[in-house]
Amino acid sequence: MSHTERGEKTVSQERRTALKIITSISFIVSLGSLASLLKSISPVVLEIPEWPRVRLANINGIKLRTWYLFSYPTKDIPCLLVKTGKSLPSGVGPDRDIIAYVMICQHARYYGTIYIPPKEVRDPEKLTYLKTVPPNILELYPDKNLLYCPAHAGIYDLEKDGEVLAGPPFCSLCKVVLEYDEASGDIYAVGLSPPAPAVPGVTHCSNNPEELKRIMLGKKLVTEASLEEKI
Ligand code: FES
Repeated sequence: MSHTERGEKTVSQERRTALKIITSISFIVSLGSLASLLKSISPVVLEIPEWPRVRLANINGIKLRTWYLFSYPTKDIPCLLVKTGKSLPSGVGPDRDIIAYVMICQHARYYGTIYIPPKEVRDPEKLTYLKTVPPNILELYPDKNLLYCPAHAGIYDLEKDGEVLAGPPFCSLCKVVLEYDEASGDIYAVGLSPPAPAVPGVTHCSNNPEELKRIMLGKKLVTEASLEEKI
């Protein structure tokens, strides 16, 4: 190798080394900028809201064993309210027989669950939707107020804290906590009680009341509700 060639090789090696140093410095500088950028973005902490207190209806407007729909605590959560005709531990109202539950099935998040009243008022001509329920299910539980899920025949006992009577649901229904104002006769929804319903945002079937409140995170809460009569 000639003297000139050796000289050119040394120069190009020096160039490569210089280029490497410049690249490394730029990389370190950009890492530093990224770190200070990340530092400047403070994490968004969403505060978990309290349950809204929402007036649902007045006792004078509630018919016996009629299926009423409403949304609580957010628009996308369908609930049902029923005056069962039986005094229940969690019932409200003068006869302590009014209850409410989230209607979403606790198996595979099916929204099309249906109310089945006790046999004495199961008039298939009036309650035409009962024709979709297998007769053996109706015969098995003649005296109860039930919630039925047509997806996989899940059955819940509305008189016993939404307990699962049959089918594949993983836990009881999520209950709507109600309050009754004796002076005015108004009925309010004031919260949900575990287990958590099968909806995004909470651990399904969780029994932690605080975890359940996460259902409201980042969502618009219902401030007023009107009952829609289904039957
Ligand atoms: S989704 Fe209700 S029983 Fe399966």
